[in-house]
Amino acid sequence: MNFNTILVSIKDRRAYITINRPKKLNALNKETISELSFAFEKLEEDQNVRVIILTGSGQKSFVAGADISEFVHFSEEEGGRLAKIGQEKLFDYIENLSTPVIAAVNGFALGGGLELAMCCHFRIASDTAKMGLPEVSLGVIPGYGGTQRLPQLVGKGKAMEMIMTASMISAHEAKACGLVNEVTTQEELLPTVEKIASKILRNSPTAISAAIRAVNAGFEDGVNGYNTEIDEFGSCFGTKDFTEGTSAFLEKRKPTFS
Ligand code: COA
Repeated sequence: MNFNTILVSIKDRRAYITINRPKKLNALNKETISELSFAFEKLEEDQNVRVIILTGSGQKSFVAGADISEFVHFSEEEGGRLAKIGQEKLFDYIENLSTPVIAAVNGFALGGGLELAMCCHFRIASDTAKMGLPEVSLGVIPGYGGTQRLPQLVGKGKAMEMIMTASMISAHEAKACGLVNEVTTQEELLPTVEKIASKILRNSPTAISAAIRAVNAGFEDGVNGYNTEIDEFGSCFGTKDFTEGTSAFLEKRKPTFS
Protein backbone atom coordinates (compact mmCIF):
# COMPACT_ATOMS: atom_id res chain seq x y z
CA MET A 1 0.00 0.00 0.00
CA ASN A 2 1.43 3.40 -1.00
CA PHE A 3 0.43 6.57 0.81
CA ASN A 4 1.63 10.17 1.10
CA THR A 5 1.27 10.71 4.85
CA ILE A 6 1.49 7.24 6.42
CA LEU A 7 3.68 4.15 6.09
CA VAL A 8 2.19 0.66 6.24
CA SER A 9 4.06 -2.63 6.50
CA ILE A 10 3.19 -6.17 7.50
CA LYS A 11 5.51 -8.66 9.22
CA ASP A 12 4.69 -11.92 11.00
CA ARG A 13 0.92 -11.24 11.15
CA ARG A 14 1.54 -7.81 12.65
CA ALA A 15 0.76 -4.68 10.67
CA TYR A 16 2.55 -1.43 11.42
CA ILE A 17 0.97 1.92 10.59
CA THR A 18 3.31 4.89 11.04
CA ILE A 19 1.97 8.41 10.71
CA ASN A 20 4.63 10.11 8.67
CA ARG A 21 4.54 13.92 8.68
CA PRO A 22 7.47 14.47 11.08
CA LYS A 23 8.01 18.09 10.03
CA LYS A 24 4.47 18.85 11.26
CA LEU A 25 4.89 16.56 14.28
CA ASN A 26 2.57 14.09 12.49
CA ALA A 27 -0.45 16.41 12.80
CA LEU A 28 -3.61 14.88 11.33
CA ASN A 29 -4.72 16.63 8.17
CA LYS A 30 -7.58 15.59 5.92
CA GLU A 31 -5.34 13.41 3.79
CA THR A 32 -3.87 11.59 6.82
CA ILE A 33 -7.35 10.88 8.21
CA SER A 34 -8.45 9.54 4.85
CA GLU A 35 -5.31 7.42 4.36
CA LEU A 36 -5.53 6.04 7.90
CA SER A 37 -9.15 5.16 7.36
CA PHE A 38 -8.36 3.34 4.10
CA ALA A 39 -5.36 1.52 5.62
CA PHE A 40 -7.32 0.30 8.67
CA GLU A 41 -10.12 -0.90 6.39
CA LYS A 42 -7.70 -2.89 4.20
CA LEU A 43 -5.83 -4.37 7.18
CA GLU A 44 -9.11 -5.40 8.82
CA GLU A 45 -9.98 -7.33 5.64
CA ASP A 46 -6.56 -9.02 5.49
CA GLN A 47 -6.85 -12.44 7.16
CA ASN A 48 -3.08 -12.54 7.65
CA VAL A 49 -3.08 -9.49 9.89
CA ARG A 50 -3.83 -10.33 13.52
CA VAL A 51 -2.56 -7.24 15.36
CA ILE A 52 -2.16 -3.62 14.22
CA ILE A 53 0.46 -1.36 15.80
CA LEU A 54 -0.03 2.39 15.34
CA THR A 55 2.82 4.83 15.94
CA GLY A 56 4.30 8.13 14.76
CA SER A 57 7.50 8.65 12.80
CA GLY A 58 10.53 10.23 14.43
CA GLN A 59 11.31 10.43 18.13
CA LYS A 60 9.44 13.60 18.98
CA SER A 61 5.80 13.03 18.26
CA PHE A 62 3.09 10.39 18.01
CA VAL A 63 0.59 12.95 16.70
CA ALA A 64 0.52 16.61 17.82
CA GLY A 65 -3.19 16.95 17.10
CA ALA A 66 -5.48 17.80 14.25
CA ASP A 67 -3.80 20.07 11.71
CA ILE A 68 -4.74 23.50 13.05
CA SER A 69 -3.87 25.24 9.77
CA GLU A 70 -6.63 23.28 8.01
CA PHE A 71 -9.56 24.28 10.21
CA VAL A 72 -8.58 27.80 11.24
CA HIS A 73 -11.16 29.43 8.91
CA PHE A 74 -13.93 26.85 9.34
CA SER A 75 -17.55 27.88 9.97
CA GLU A 76 -19.67 26.26 12.72
CA GLU A 77 -21.11 23.88 10.15
CA GLU A 78 -17.72 22.90 8.75
CA GLY A 79 -16.38 22.37 12.28
CA GLY A 80 -19.27 20.06 13.12
CA ARG A 81 -18.77 18.15 9.89
CA LEU A 82 -15.02 17.76 10.56
CA ALA A 83 -15.75 16.10 13.92
CA LYS A 84 -18.60 13.93 12.61
CA ILE A 85 -16.75 12.60 9.58
CA GLY A 86 -13.53 12.03 11.59
CA GLN A 87 -15.37 10.17 14.35
CA GLU A 88 -17.32 7.97 11.97
CA LYS A 89 -14.63 7.29 9.39
CA LEU A 90 -11.70 6.77 11.71
CA PHE A 91 -11.97 7.05 15.47
CA ASP A 92 -15.13 4.97 16.08
CA TYR A 93 -14.09 2.68 13.27
CA ILE A 94 -10.73 1.84 14.94
CA GLU A 95 -12.37 1.30 18.33
CA ASN A 96 -14.75 -1.21 16.80
CA LEU A 97 -12.26 -3.09 14.62
CA SER A 98 -12.21 -6.82 15.24
CA THR A 99 -8.42 -6.81 14.88
CA PRO A 100 -6.65 -5.60 18.05
CA VAL A 101 -5.01 -2.19 17.66
CA ILE A 102 -2.18 -1.08 20.00
CA ALA A 103 -0.96 2.53 20.08
CA ALA A 104 2.80 2.88 20.55
CA VAL A 105 2.91 6.45 21.83
CA ASN A 106 6.43 7.61 20.98
CA GLY A 107 6.22 11.33 21.83
CA PHE A 108 3.59 14.11 21.88
CA ALA A 109 0.03 12.77 21.78
CA LEU A 110 -2.03 15.94 21.89
CA GLY A 111 -5.61 16.76 20.94
CA GLY A 112 -6.57 14.56 18.00
CA GLY A 113 -3.34 12.64 18.61
CA LEU A 114 -4.38 11.60 22.11
CA GLU A 115 -7.89 10.95 20.79
CA LEU A 116 -6.36 8.66 18.17
CA ALA A 117 -4.34 6.81 20.81
CA MET A 118 -7.47 6.53 22.99
CA CYS A 119 -9.58 4.89 20.31
CA CYS A 120 -6.94 2.14 19.97
CA HIS A 121 -7.68 -0.89 22.15
CA PHE A 122 -4.82 0.01 24.49
CA ARG A 123 -1.67 2.14 24.70
CA ILE A 124 2.02 1.71 25.55
CA ALA A 125 4.13 4.88 25.84
CA SER A 126 7.79 5.84 25.74
CA ASP A 127 9.06 7.74 28.78
CA THR A 128 9.46 10.78 26.51
CA ALA A 129 5.76 10.90 25.63
CA LYS A 130 3.57 13.80 26.68
CA MET A 131 -0.20 13.65 26.52
CA GLY A 132 -2.99 16.17 26.73
CA LEU A 133 -6.14 17.64 25.24
CA PRO A 134 -5.15 21.31 24.68
CA GLU A 135 -8.20 22.24 22.59
CA VAL A 136 -9.70 24.78 25.01
CA SER A 137 -6.48 26.80 24.70
CA LEU A 138 -7.49 27.25 21.05
CA GLY A 139 -11.09 28.13 21.86
CA VAL A 140 -12.51 24.78 20.83
CA ILE A 141 -13.16 21.42 22.53
CA PRO A 142 -11.98 17.90 21.66
CA GLY A 143 -14.00 16.71 18.66
CA TYR A 144 -12.75 13.21 17.93
CA GLY A 145 -14.26 11.54 20.98
CA GLY A 146 -11.90 12.98 23.61
CA THR A 147 -14.63 14.22 25.95
CA GLN A 148 -16.04 10.69 26.05
CA ARG A 149 -13.02 8.38 25.95
CA LEU A 150 -10.77 10.30 28.36
CA PRO A 151 -13.29 10.05 31.26
CA GLN A 152 -13.75 6.33 30.45
CA LEU A 153 -10.02 5.76 30.83
CA VAL A 154 -8.97 8.11 33.64
CA GLY A 155 -12.25 8.95 35.43
CA LYS A 156 -14.40 12.06 35.14
CA GLY A 157 -12.53 14.32 37.58
CA LYS A 158 -9.08 13.76 36.09
CA ALA A 159 -10.49 14.13 32.55
CA MET A 160 -12.20 17.40 33.49
CA GLU A 161 -8.93 18.69 34.94
CA MET A 162 -6.91 17.69 31.86
CA ILE A 163 -9.44 19.22 29.48
CA MET A 164 -9.99 22.45 31.44
CA THR A 165 -6.29 23.12 32.12
CA ALA A 166 -5.22 22.04 28.61
CA SER A 167 -2.03 20.79 30.28
CA MET A 168 0.16 17.93 29.22
CA ILE A 169 0.91 14.99 31.50
CA SER A 170 4.02 12.81 31.42
CA ALA A 171 4.03 9.15 30.41
CA HIS A 172 4.43 8.10 34.05
CA GLU A 173 1.46 10.26 35.11
CA ALA A 174 -0.49 8.74 32.22
CA LYS A 175 0.29 5.27 33.51
CA ALA A 176 -0.69 6.21 37.05
CA CYS A 177 -4.15 7.33 35.88
CA GLY A 178 -4.76 4.41 33.50
CA LEU A 179 -4.33 6.26 30.23
CA VAL A 180 -1.43 4.02 29.16
CA ASN A 181 -0.70 0.47 30.28
CA GLU A 182 3.08 0.56 30.31
CA VAL A 183 5.97 3.01 29.99
CA THR A 184 9.27 2.04 28.35
CA THR A 185 12.34 3.78 27.02
CA GLN A 186 12.07 5.08 23.46
CA GLU A 187 14.33 2.20 22.26
CA GLU A 188 12.23 -0.44 24.03
CA LEU A 189 8.87 0.91 22.88
CA LEU A 190 8.36 -1.18 19.73
CA PRO A 191 10.03 -4.32 21.17
CA THR A 192 7.68 -4.08 24.18
CA VAL A 193 4.61 -3.65 21.98
CA GLU A 194 5.80 -6.54 19.80
CA LYS A 195 6.16 -8.77 22.87
CA ILE A 196 2.57 -8.00 23.86
CA ALA A 197 1.46 -8.57 20.25
CA SER A 198 3.14 -12.01 20.33
CA LYS A 199 1.06 -12.96 23.37
CA ILE A 200 -2.10 -11.84 21.57
CA LEU A 201 -1.09 -13.85 18.49
CA ARG A 202 -1.09 -17.09 20.50
CA ASN A 203 -4.81 -16.75 21.20
CA SER A 204 -7.97 -17.31 19.20
CA PRO A 205 -8.62 -14.40 16.82
CA THR A 206 -12.34 -15.13 16.73
CA ALA A 207 -12.56 -15.09 20.54
CA ILE A 208 -10.50 -11.87 20.68
CA SER A 209 -12.88 -10.18 18.22
CA ALA A 210 -15.86 -11.36 20.29
CA ALA A 211 -14.22 -9.98 23.44
CA ILE A 212 -13.65 -6.58 21.79
CA ARG A 213 -17.35 -6.43 20.81
CA ALA A 214 -18.45 -7.40 24.33
CA VAL A 215 -16.17 -4.88 26.08
CA ASN A 216 -17.18 -2.07 23.70
CA ALA A 217 -20.88 -2.89 24.15
CA GLY A 218 -20.65 -1.78 27.78
CA PHE A 219 -19.81 1.74 26.62
CA GLU A 220 -22.55 1.99 24.02
CA ASP A 221 -25.73 3.94 24.74
CA GLY A 222 -28.80 1.76 25.08
CA VAL A 223 -26.88 -1.51 24.83
CA ASN A 224 -26.65 -3.97 27.71
CA GLY A 225 -23.04 -5.17 27.74
CA TYR A 226 -23.89 -8.21 29.86
CA ASN A 227 -26.39 -9.36 27.24
CA THR A 228 -23.85 -8.80 24.48
CA GLU A 229 -21.40 -10.89 26.48
CA ILE A 230 -23.95 -13.72 26.78
CA ASP A 231 -24.57 -13.67 23.01
CA GLU A 232 -20.88 -13.50 22.12
CA PHE A 233 -20.01 -16.20 24.66
CA GLY A 234 -22.64 -18.49 23.14
CA SER A 235 -21.45 -17.82 19.59
CA CYS A 236 -17.90 -18.87 20.51
CA PHE A 237 -19.18 -22.44 21.07
CA GLY A 238 -19.92 -22.71 17.35
CA THR A 239 -16.40 -21.77 16.22
CA LYS A 240 -13.49 -23.91 15.04
CA ASP A 241 -11.26 -21.99 17.44
CA PHE A 242 -13.35 -23.19 20.40
CA THR A 243 -13.07 -26.81 19.27
CA GLU A 244 -9.31 -26.39 18.75
CA GLY A 245 -8.67 -24.44 21.98
CA THR A 246 -10.56 -26.83 24.26
CA SER A 247 -9.29 -30.00 22.49
CA ALA A 248 -5.70 -28.76 22.71
CA PHE A 249 -6.11 -28.16 26.45
CA LEU A 250 -7.52 -31.64 27.06
CA GLU A 251 -4.84 -33.24 24.84
CA LYS A 252 -2.12 -31.27 26.67
CA ARG A 253 -0.80 -29.57 23.52
CA LYS A 254 -0.57 -26.00 22.26
CA PRO A 255 -3.57 -24.90 20.17
CA THR A 256 -3.17 -23.93 16.52
CA PHE A 257 -5.70 -21.29 15.64
CA SER A 258 -6.54 -20.60 12.01
N1 COA B 1 -1.32 21.44 13.55
C1 COA B 1 -0.57 21.97 12.58
N2 COA B 1 0.76 22.10 12.68
C2 COA B 1 1.35 21.67 13.79
C3 COA B 1 0.62 21.10 14.84
C4 COA B 1 -0.78 21.00 14.69
N3 COA B 1 -1.55 20.45 15.64
N4 COA B 1 1.49 20.79 15.85
C5 COA B 1 2.72 21.13 15.41
N5 COA B 1 2.64 21.66 14.17
C6 COA B 1 3.73 22.18 13.34
C7 COA B 1 4.19 23.55 13.79
O1 COA B 1 3.35 24.56 13.26
C8 COA B 1 5.59 23.58 13.21
O2 COA B 1 5.49 23.82 11.81
P1 COA B 1 6.53 24.89 11.11
O3 COA B 1 7.90 24.31 11.36
O4 COA B 1 6.11 24.85 9.69
O5 COA B 1 6.31 26.18 11.81
C9 COA B 1 6.07 22.14 13.36
O6 COA B 1 4.87 21.34 13.49
C10 COA B 1 6.92 21.91 14.59
O7 COA B 1 6.19 22.36 15.73
P2 COA B 1 6.76 23.43 16.80
O8 COA B 1 5.60 24.10 17.45
O9 COA B 1 7.77 24.31 16.15
O10 COA B 1 7.52 22.45 17.79
P3 COA B 1 7.81 22.69 19.34
O11 COA B 1 8.75 21.61 19.76
O12 COA B 1 8.20 24.10 19.60
O13 COA B 1 6.39 22.47 20.08
C11 COA B 1 4.29 21.36 20.50
C12 COA B 1 5.76 21.22 20.08
C13 COA B 1 3.63 20.00 20.31
C14 COA B 1 4.21 21.75 21.98
C15 COA B 1 3.59 22.43 19.63
O14 COA B 1 3.86 22.14 18.27
C16 COA B 1 2.10 22.50 19.80
O15 COA B 1 1.63 23.05 20.80
N6 COA B 1 1.32 21.98 18.82
C17 COA B 1 -0.10 22.11 18.80
C18 COA B 1 -0.72 21.12 19.77
C19 COA B 1 -2.22 21.29 19.79
O16 COA B 1 -2.75 22.30 20.22
N7 COA B 1 -2.92 20.25 19.33
C20 COA B 1 -4.35 20.22 19.33
C21 COA B 1 -4.89 20.64 18.04
S1 COA B 1 -6.65 20.60 18.06
